[in-house]
Parts: sequence; C-alpha cells; structure tokens
Amino acid sequence: MAEKYSSFFASVKTPFQREYGGVTFPAVLSPATSAAALAAAVKEQKTWVESLLHMHGAILFRGFESLATASDFNDVVEAFGYEELPYVGGPAPRTHVVGRVYTANDAPPHQKLHFHHEMAHLPSPPRKLFFFCEEESASRGETPILLSHIVYERMKEKYPDFVEKLEKLGWMYTRFMGEEDDLSSPLGRGWKSMYRTTDKIVAQQRAAEVKTKLEWVENGVKMIAGPTPGIKCDETRSRKVWFNSIATAYTTWGGKRNDDPKKTVNFGDGNPLPENIINHCLKIMEAESIKFPWQKGDLLMIDNFAVLHSREPFTPPRRILVALCK
Ligand code: FE2
Repeated sequence: MAEKYSSFFASVKTPFQREYGGVTFPAVLSPATSAAALAAAVKEQKTWVESLLHMHGAILFRGFESLATASDFNDVVEAFGYEELPYVGGPAPRTHVVGRVYTANDAPPHQKLHFHHEMAHLPSPPRKLFFFCEEESASRGETPILLSHIVYERMKEKYPDFVEKLEKLGWMYTRFMGEEDDLSSPLGRGWKSMYRTTDKIVAQQRAAEVKTKLEWVENGVKMIAGPTPGIKCDETRSRKVWFNSIATAYTTWGGKRNDDPKKTVNFGDGNPLPENIINHCLKIMEAESIKFPWQKGDLLMIDNFAVLHSREPFTPPRRILVALCK
C-alpha cells in the first residue's frame, strides 16, 4: 500500500523491510503520479530525500517509468549534485558504461560477495552509493543490505574484548595483484586499472595518496593498505558503526594470487584475526540483513557510512550498475 508523501513521492510498505527502533529499513519510494520523473523530483526535493536517507540508511526507488536506461540513471545521480568518487584503490573489476556509471562487479555470476562497506580499507571511502537494475537476473542476484551499527551492537554484546582490540588496533589488508584485470575473481583488478596508469612510479604515488604501500614482485605487486580503523563513529547519527570488510576479506578475498584469504586481513599490528569470531560475525550479518529481488528500473541509494552491502550469486542475464559519490 502506498502513502503519498508529496507531489512526487509515495512511500510503500513491502514484506522485505525490517524495523529497528520503529524505523523501517530500507525506505521504499514510488512515484506519487505516473508522470513523476525521478531526476526532476530529486532536484525539487533533494533535502527531503537526504533527510529520509539519514533516517533509514538506504532508499529503494521503485516504479519510476522515466528510469529505464543507464543514461537515465546517470541523470538521477547527476541531479543529486554530489562530487564523483573515482574508483581508485578498489579491488572489483568494473567497466565504464556512461557518464559516472559503471558495472557493479564483472566477477563470475556464481560467486557470492559477502558484506562490506565500499572501499572500507581506504582513508576516504565513498559517502553515497547508487545501484541501478538495468536488467533483472533470471534468478537470485540480490544486493542484500545491512545496518552497520546493528552489527557493531551485536558484536560488542557477544565479543567485547575483540571489538575493543579492533577499535584500538584497526585492521590491515594485504594482497597480491597482477598487471591486468582478472575477470575470474570479484577482486581481480590489476594494478594498472586500479591506479589508472601503466607507470609504476605514478601507481606508487596514487597508492600512497590512499595510504597504501606497493611492493613490486614478479609479474605484479603486493599492496598493503592500512592500518585502517575497524570501528568508526558516525558523527551525524551519534553512534558507532562496524566500518570494515574484515569478515568478507577473511573468508573470501582469496583468488589465484592470494590462495589463503585469511592471510589477506589482520589486526592493524599484523597479528591474525580470530577465526571463530569472524565466522560468527558472518552469521550475525546474514541474520540481520534484508534482501529483495531486483526489478528492472530499481534504484537503490545507500549511505555507505551506515549500511553494508553484498551480492548473491545469480543466473545471467543480470546487469546492475553503480555510481560512487564523495
Ligand atoms: Fe561493493
């Protein structure tokens, strides 16, 4: 059932939403009238949409007829007027589509990507993420989402000593990369595309700008990112957030050049993470998350500081696009 908010937007209740402290997660908005165009609506009511994002952490825009192509999606992202965040230092292989729009991840469909904050291992991750469904998947392929402060609270309740240690030491991320992109892995980006250069010196400078060290090895490079804080304070909401990718890195960020994912992530002092706690963290994440089948034309806006995301395996075709903002 839809409730009209304004001349542009109506709020929709759906079975997949959850509620925390009386606030639904995520908010779901549909057009108030069939003629409502999303880019125009955003320009008119940006402040209101932002306040909704602040309260709910994520907004699913569904049912806007004006939103069908990658270029329509780009127009909506532009309408928000946020500065683009260049994808430098992120590990996923992505293809440029149009404007500031990229494919979300070119990794093989059978691979599940666990929960993470986008670019959490870097000092300046994107603040907002936009995902767009250009083509639905034949089956599965959801982009599950999860409130980060809930993960922090559950982990703190169960493992206070571990959380305190992570808070004090932060975490480090180490991996080997080849020169070129390896599309067989969700983290298969090569150093040339990661740092947008073929020059090793320039790559090194760009890595240093995002607090990453590069050590050249045969046919590639070892990157060492961090230490990065594992828990951050969300000042705008006055709460702590589980702002890291340790659970997903520890369990799945392996690949051809990184045969043991457990070695890719450590406490900030280089010591190993406790396996049983990390595995339980993944269970907490699954239990608290929500997921919904993508529909063509869906746009999901995420506050990357408040919400983690993941990707379920899928049966092609499926095309989800992304835009990252500062
Ligand atoms: Fe991601």
